This record gives sequence, structure tokens and C-alpha cells, in this order.
Amino acid sequence: MAITIYLSLVFLVVYLIGLAIRRWRFVHDRNLMARESRGGGRVVARVDELQPGAVKKFWLICQKYRLDGILINHGGSFYAYVNRCRHMPTPLDFVRDEFFSDDGCHLQCYTHGALYDFASGVCVAGPCKGESLYRLPVRVDGADVLVGCPDGDLRPMGE
Ligand code: FES
Repeated sequence: MAITIYLSLVFLVVYLIGLAIRRWRFVHDRNLMARESRGGGRVVARVDELQPGAVKKFWLICQKYRLDGILINHGGSFYAYVNRCRHMPTPLDFVRDEFFSDDGCHLQCYTHGALYDFASGVCVAGPCKGESLYRLPVRVDGADVLVGCPDGDLRPMGE
């Protein structure tokens, strides 16, 4: 009996420490994002660091959620999406550290092969056909690419 109570207390302490670390990280990242933001968007890349065909991962703190995103330069235009497949809540690069289909014509989720259109984010083939990636607003300001938080209910997008 005593050992059960002891182990329960140990697990409780470990759990509370985990919560505290997660909270500290969230506040730290929120402050960092505030320092790197202007005009409603966070600077996530410089225009010249992302050539056509390149992708960059980033994160945002939006409301009470941390959103992991991807910024894509497709043919000289920038698009940003939450890095979360619409079939299941996994990152597009969960299985393979890549985002593009082998022919380079689509974004691809490597878990089950869903293909997404670069510009619209719509799933054009695979198990989530017709659904769309969660789009993030992108703005080019001088030499910087800024990405902002989306409006509305972010619960389906966040951690
Ligand atoms: S999780 Fe992306 S296609 Fe299934």
C-alpha cells in the first residue's frame, strides 16, 4: 500500500514538472514571437533565403496554441500552411523528412500519400480528397516574409 502511494506521488510530481516545462516553453516562445513580429505577422524567412521550390518550417503562437507551419516558395510566390495533414493530425513530413511529391508537382503527406495543391492547399488525391490544409496569411515586407495567425477557432490546428 505504501509503495503504491509513493509511486503515485512520484508520477504526480513528474507530471507537474512536465506541465511546468511546457508552460515555460510556451511563454518563452510567445515572447520570442512578439520580438520577431511586426504588423500582425512573424518574420519567418528572408525573401532571398527561400528560392523557388524550397520549403521552410516555422512555428507561431496563436491565441493559446502553438502552430507548426511550412512556408513554400512555389514559382516565386509564397504560401504558408499549418503542417498538419487533413486526413489525420500528423505533420506532412512525419514519415519522411520531405514535403514534395516525387514529380515536384504537389505537396505530399508521406504517411498515406495525400497530395495537396501548392497554391490552394486543397487535397487533390488521397484519403482526404477535397479537404484543404489550414492556410496561414503571408506577407512580403521588404526583404522579409511574414506569416500571421489565422482567424477563427484554432483548436483543430493546434497542439
Ligand atoms: S495522415 Fe496524411 S494522408 Fe494519412
